[in-house]
Amino acid sequence: MKHIIDILDLSVSEIDALISTAQDIIAQPKEYAELCRGLKLATLFFEPSTRTRLSFEAAMYELGGNVLSVTGAATSSASKGESVADTAKVVSCYADIIAIRHPKEGAALVAAQNASIPVINAGDGGHCHPTQTLADLCTIYREKGRLSDLTVGFCGDLKFGRTVHSLINALSRYSGVSFVLISPEELKLPSYVKDGVLKPNGITYRQTTDLEAALPGLDLLYMTRVQRERFFNEEDYLRLKDSYILTPDKLRLAGPDMCVLHPLPRVNEISVAVDNDPRACYFKQVLNGKYMRMALMLMLLKDAGRIG
Ligand code: NCD
Repeated sequence: MKHIIDILDLSVSEIDALISTAQDIIAQPKEYAELCRGLKLATLFFEPSTRTRLSFEAAMYELGGNVLSVTGAATSSASKGESVADTAKVVSCYADIIAIRHPKEGAALVAAQNASIPVINAGDGGHCHPTQTLADLCTIYREKGRLSDLTVGFCGDLKFGRTVHSLINALSRYSGVSFVLISPEELKLPSYVKDGVLKPNGITYRQTTDLEAALPGLDLLYMTRVQRERFFNEEDYLRLKDSYILTPDKLRLAGPDMCVLHPLPRVNEISVAVDNDPRACYFKQVLNGKYMRMALMLMLLKDAGRIG
């Protein structure tokens, strides 16, 4: 049974196939409207979410299926002490596929080891967020026409930002990709990503605290929110939260074709005035995320023999 816990659970050719299915869904949505008739997605979200949960649910509805939903640990048996393993076994009796978000790193893997249906990691603590990466890759491909030969800037909370970790993992498999890692000292990319992904893949990267100086050389700028919920104390968060704010003035330093991406939610790190700039692609990313989740669920449900 195939589960998606990490973006590396998908090969480069599977990712290409998902992007091509997503583009086909965009071109002819009616062809897909009945494919999951009679099937159920369970969304088990033990951490806040708007986009990820709703896009999974919208994706399943647009495939003709239905949704069962747990939102928040407080209203589920997790509050009574039920383990993720038991929850996964139970939900396997009701649904055909699970999307799970949990504050603990590794929770989605535990769910997958215990479920008898496919499990998709919708974010496990500060670790991974593979379906956001699918949204990111689809957007990059649609905007730039390629996933190789790109200089990508990541800016903000590179320590706790799980979307950053997953996207770096994904892009490191393409040729000619290099990274500029822009963050405060305290929020630098963890060494497990540098030593485990960048160095073994021979990826060119540099670390800096200076967004303005980095902007002129970038094909893509991936902005991120400082992840308040992962800080040990509020003082550190308050000191670091506004380290970078992208404004129209700063964007003047960037090339005319640079894309600005952000997994959202935005707090303060991109000024609203940037939204009208044609280089702002973050709302397109949201829509692409729904199509990629449709494509992914189709792939997993076919693999599990639940659709023909
Ligand atoms: C991200 C997440 O949950 O990691 N949000 C999302 O799913 N689009 C980014 C974030 O919360 O900052």
